[in-house]
Amino acid sequence: MTKFLKVMALATLLVSSAIAAEYTIKVTHVVSPNTPKGMGADFFAKRVGELTGGKVEVVVFPNSQLYGDGEEMKALKLGNAHIAMPSFSKFTSIVPEMQLFDLPFIFRDKDHLYKVLDGEVGQVLKDKVTAKGFVALDYWDAGFKHLSSNKKAILTPQDAEGQKFRIMSSHVLEAQFKAIGANPQVLPFSEVYSALQQGVVDGAENPLSNFYTKKFNEVQTDLTLSDHGYLGYLVIMSESFWKKFPNDLKPMVLQAMKEATVYERKLAAQDDEEMLTKLKEYAKTSGNLKIHTLTAEQKAVWQKAMEAIYPQFYKVIGEDLIKKVQAVK
Ligand code: LMR
Repeated sequence: MTKFLKVMALATLLVSSAIAAEYTIKVTHVVSPNTPKGMGADFFAKRVGELTGGKVEVVVFPNSQLYGDGEEMKALKLGNAHIAMPSFSKFTSIVPEMQLFDLPFIFRDKDHLYKVLDGEVGQVLKDKVTAKGFVALDYWDAGFKHLSSNKKAILTPQDAEGQKFRIMSSHVLEAQFKAIGANPQVLPFSEVYSALQQGVVDGAENPLSNFYTKKFNEVQTDLTLSDHGYLGYLVIMSESFWKKFPNDLKPMVLQAMKEATVYERKLAAQDDEEMLTKLKEYAKTSGNLKIHTLTAEQKAVWQKAMEAIYPQFYKVIGEDLIKKVQAVK
């Protein structure tokens, strides 16, 4: 390279790194950065920067740093944060039909789940969220939930009787625990660790990524791989922010989100196995955690006990919507 070219290259580098972002997108979420949701958000940030040539900067605030449960949606409404990915239960007060996703044993497997999310039912629910003044983007994945406790091994619904379980704010989750004689208690995600540690609640239900990355394994003695319910997210954006956002930059942001969704879902698919390996290792080395698997017969008992709540929610969720999900092959 000639001296002139070297000078030019350096000048270009300096100029491009000196370009300050013209727009900032604030993303808020409540989980660890090293979960599928956390890594998906960081990936989105990186891709927006790349696709807009640094014109748009995405800043991610994980771990309820900026806003916790119940605050995220308000922050989006006020334009104080711009993107959030709340779990479905957190939409209960604005779109009660979203509790469909909380129904125990509603999805047979991930294949069934994705067909529902990306099909007619997923769109119907997105439209309901849009009608409440949000831009509904994509569905992200966390995984199937498992029961844990620091009282005893939970192998049958009777084992859970009388135990206090932390739940997200969802009437379906409340009914699910009441159906097995347990006591549900709504708590924000940021308070779960201390609530388990201090015995405010005995147990919880989480996908393995949240269980491990929030160190719930340190404050629970028993984990049952129950797969009884599902936890996922709808990525939403502040409507007022998006309306004012420059039209020429919108396609890049949407493209980055599309790529982040593919990435996040892939991570979630791999994550369960990795987390289980880590938890097994922890169980072995610490001796403080027992991991229980259920036989098909045991799972069927759980399913029967929990599915009994469906009719209670025919009205609020829509019996037709529930039946549509069940009919998806
Ligand atoms: C929870 O509150 O348990 C979850 O919604 C946390 C999350 O966002 O994964």
